[in-house]
Amino acid sequence: MAQLFEALGFVENPLYERIIDDISKQKFTIIDNFFSEEEVNALRASILDKYEEDAFKKAAIGNKFDEVIVKSIRGDVILWMDEVVSNPAEKLFFNKINDLVDYLNKTCFLGILYKEFHYAIYPKSTFYKRHLDTFKNDDRRKLSFVCYLNHEDWQPENGGELVLYLDDNGQEVEKVIYPFPGRVVIFESQILEHEVRPVNTKRLSITGWLKTR
Ligand code: OGA
Ligand code: MN
Repeated sequence: MAQLFEALGFVENPLYERIIDDISKQKFTIIDNFFSEEEVNALRASILDKYEEDAFKKAAIGNKFDEVIVKSIRGDVILWMDEVVSNPAEKLFFNKINDLVDYLNKTCFLGILYKEFHYAIYPKSTFYKRHLDTFKNDDRRKLSFVCYLNHEDWQPENGGELVLYLDDNGQEVEKVIYPFPGRVVIFESQILEHEVRPVNTKRLSITGWLKTR
C-alpha cells in the first residue's frame, strides 16, 4: 500500500495512520496534543468571547431541524461554528480538520462529504446522559469528534469525563476519558454509546461530526 501511495505522490502521515488503525480496531481513538497549546488558547479565547456575547443557546436533543430541550438529559449550551465566517483561531481549527478529512477520504474511502461543528460549554453541575450521536432523521453521522478547550490546570476532580461504552466480546466496559486541553477523541457515531459525567467546573469543548452522503 505504501508504495502505491508514493507512486501517487501521497505522503503517509503516521498520526493519521494511527487514527485510522485505532478506529478500525477499537471504534475510537484519543489524540493528545492534536492541537498545540497556542491553538487551544486561541480557541478557548474564542469560545469564551462568544459565550460572553451570549451567542450560545441551550443544547437540544435532536438536530437543527428537530429540537427539544431536555435538561434532564443534557445541560450544555452550544454554538454552531461557521467555517465561512471563521476567525483566525477557527481557521486553524478547520484547516486541521480538512487536512484530516482529506487524508481519511484518500486512504479509507470513507466518503466524508459534510462536516458540522459546534462549541459546547457545560456549566457546573451539568452532564449529558448516555446516548448515541445519530438521529431518527439523520443517520449520516459517521465519526464523532470532540476537542477539549479547558485550562491547562484542568484536574480529574473537575469531572466531566467522557465515558465510552465499549463492547469487549459481549461484555460492556467503560472507557473513561478526561477532558484535558488539546486532547481530541474521535469515535464511530453509529456504534459507540457514550455520556458526559457531571462537571464540577465549567467545561469547554468543540464537538463535531464527519458525515457521509
Ligand atoms: C455530544 C457529546 C462528548 C464530550 O456532544 O454529543 O457526546 O465529551 N460530547 O463533550
Ligand atoms: Mn454525543
